[in-house]
Amino acid sequence: MKHIAILASGTGTNAENIIRYFSNDKKAKVTLVLSNKPQAMVLERAAALGVDAFFFDRDQFYNTGEVLMMLRRRETDLVVLAGFLWLVPVELIHAFRGRIINIHPALLPQFGGKGMYGEKVHRAVLESGCTESGITIHYVNEYYDAGDIIFQARCPVLPGDDADTLAQRVHALEYEHFPKVISQLISNL
Ligand code: GRF
Repeated sequence: MKHIAILASGTGTNAENIIRYFSNDKKAKVTLVLSNKPQAMVLERAAALGVDAFFFDRDQFYNTGEVLMMLRRRETDLVVLAGFLWLVPVELIHAFRGRIINIHPALLPQFGGKGMYGEKVHRAVLESGCTESGITIHYVNEYYDAGDIIFQARCPVLPGDDADTLAQRVHALEYEHFPKVISQLISNL
């Protein structure tokens, strides 16, 4: 059985979707959810589904190595960032090289980088006049949204879209594809 850990900062609908997807899986399950926000809804969602869920602070992430220790103690095979907003420290990236992935709600390399998250991404896509958006699942490296791309899926940007309607369409793609891509990666570990 492979162990998946999820890092998330917010609502955690992707985290919940991934937990549910693997709850009856024979080869992998989500064993740990960590958040840098003490009030993040993702912690409640995970706990309600019986997954251990903990808050960590900046010091535990960047200085003391406690987050890395927790991941190791759980024998984590794959680290999944699902709406996680901090840059990942280099020690963690080295420890999980090729085993740490992120999802971004647009078609990278466009509309990524520091500060490009949530609604801001969708607003930038709308302002650009692009007729397409989508999702990008990629490996995590030392820079925001810059690791090798694993998978992309596309959706149209429709006339009359606002950030909300576009976000909903992109979220639907995330729910459909993210667990499957994780499952595929797990098979290759
Ligand atoms: C998703 O759109 C994801 O692509 C981005 O942050 C959002 C998280 O949403 N990185 P949720 O917390 O899973 O609902």
